[in-house]
Amino acid sequence: MFRLLLEPDGAPGTVELDDPVGTRVGDPVREDGAAVDPVEPAQLRAQARAVEDVVAQDERDGLVPDEVRAEHERLREAVGLVLHDVLQAEPELGPVAQQAAELIDVRRGGDDQDLADAREHQRGQRVVDHRLVVDREELLTDADGDRVQPAPGAPGQDDPSHRHTITSHPGGYGMHMHIVVTGGAGFIGANFVRRTVATRPDVRITVVDALTYAANESSLDGVGVEFVKGSITDPAVVDELVAPADAVVNFAADTHNDNSLTDPWPFLDTNIRGTAVLLDAVRRHEKRLHHISTDEVFGDLPLGTPERFTEETPYRPSSPYSASKASSDHLVRAWVRSFGVQATISNCSNNYGPYQHVEKFIPRQITNILSGERPKLYGAGANVRDWIHVDDHNDAVWAILERGTIGETYLIGADGERSNREVLALILEATGRAPDDFDTVPDRAGHDLRYAIDSSKLRRELGWAPARADFAAGLRDTVDWYRENRAWWEPGKAGTEAAYARRETPR
Ligand code: NAD
Ligand code: DAU
Repeated sequence: MFRLLLEPDGAPGTVELDDPVGTRVGDPVREDGAAVDPVEPAQLRAQARAVEDVVAQDERDGLVPDEVRAEHERLREAVGLVLHDVLQAEPELGPVAQQAAELIDVRRGGDDQDLADAREHQRGQRVVDHRLVVDREELLTDADGDRVQPAPGAPGQDDPSHRHTITSHPGGYGMHMHIVVTGGAGFIGANFVRRTVATRPDVRITVVDALTYAANESSLDGVGVEFVKGSITDPAVVDELVAPADAVVNFAADTHNDNSLTDPWPFLDTNIRGTAVLLDAVRRHEKRLHHISTDEVFGDLPLGTPERFTEETPYRPSSPYSASKASSDHLVRAWVRSFGVQATISNCSNNYGPYQHVEKFIPRQITNILSGERPKLYGAGANVRDWIHVDDHNDAVWAILERGTIGETYLIGADGERSNREVLALILEATGRAPDDFDTVPDRAGHDLRYAIDSSKLRRELGWAPARADFAAGLRDTVDWYRENRAWWEPGKAGTEAAYARRETPR
């Protein structure tokens, strides 16, 4: 067990390492003093040694208050990593390690900010832990201070009967990181949550989602993360969730171009105002934000040219959806520059994979075929999209969260350019249909011609590369997923097609 103490005599404080049972931080031991033989990723070891370095340095130099807080964060992280190391090697020590993480304590006179932070942190935990049933009403009832009333008809406000049982997965404060994932019941957000839980057991996740028509709660079945039904446009909900977290990953948005042509207003509300509410909260609580955006902010490219979007391409959005996403990016940059918010942005190309709503191109065509209907191609099908598997997108998001430079934008793409006609041909082939077994329907108004991403900055600076670059293989897997998960998509299929039929029937 590790305990970190700072002298209560105000700044400059002293950092001590109280190590009653261990030999040193790098050699974790059981409570009885027996040595643990951790399976050690080299990185964790390096971090562990950094604790001793920091302590020695602090003793030599003393620290000014801000530095103390920064060092505290580093120490907490390093100790958390050692405890993670212990857990990897000796899972039965889980409760002991968890207790140790919670006992990491900082005491400092003069500036009581750390204690205030810790109390706020605990309060946040209490709110979440007590929420066996969660919706925004309960969250607000629990909150201190003024209640902020959501606008009538705001997303997520209309269904008071909605209830969610929550469970926690292992991890928590002190172990590594607590993130708030907005829009986590949507396509990319749900895949992000699932992948993070599967690959990073030391990350604690709180999902907040307004559960619009685009969400599917069952995408998170069996995952066991904390779930809050609420809107990112609701400042009270956002504030309550951001306060105890380390970072926010913002997937929440209205996302379908066709819908933005019918009714732009929800897009402006969630994508612009919602992002501003998040920015305000991360600014107030000094938390990290990663904002998920789209390549559509750059407008479109001509067909048949080698030109691609880069981080320097000027913004030229075409639809109300892409204009609202462009606005949100501008807000993030403004908050970074004006207020020093710790944020990054990524603009990704078209995603495909499991859990995508049947309104979108690839799932619509697959589920049409699986329902005995013909696929529907807009216009001549010549428009080009740059496809990336959703897992590759989400791995890039983690690379940016962990290694990205604050204030920077990264473009994410997997060199997956295909015309809609080519994609449809692959789907028809994967489902055993004839190549001409589809209908053409009236084109989308203002339809962007071509998107193409140059992701060399992300690859060069952060070492990311797509692991699922074989588009045809990924598409076959996606067809299989929809074939095997009819219960996930069938309930929404008829309603979606009825709306499309109204739009696509020539008058
Ligand atoms: P999606 O429509 O499948 O999911 C969006 C989720 O956000 C839904 O669960 C919805 O309920 C939730 N949401 C909507 N309004 C909300 C609000 N006010 N408060 C809280 N939650 C709200 O979208 P997606 O395809 O998963 O896209 C996620 C993000 O990625 C979006 O920001 C989108 O612009 C971006 N993006 C998507 C793609 C793509 O190909 N799908 C590509 C690049 C970027
Ligand atoms: O580029 C990233 C963007 O990709 C994201 O920001 C958006 O949120 C996401 O929806 C997606 O936008 P698109 O408009 O490119 O995706 P969509 O799936 O709606 O359409 C893909 C292409 O397929 C587009 O050229 C229109 C065409 N299409 C679409 C549908 C639904 C058809 O030909 N037939 C269809 O039935």
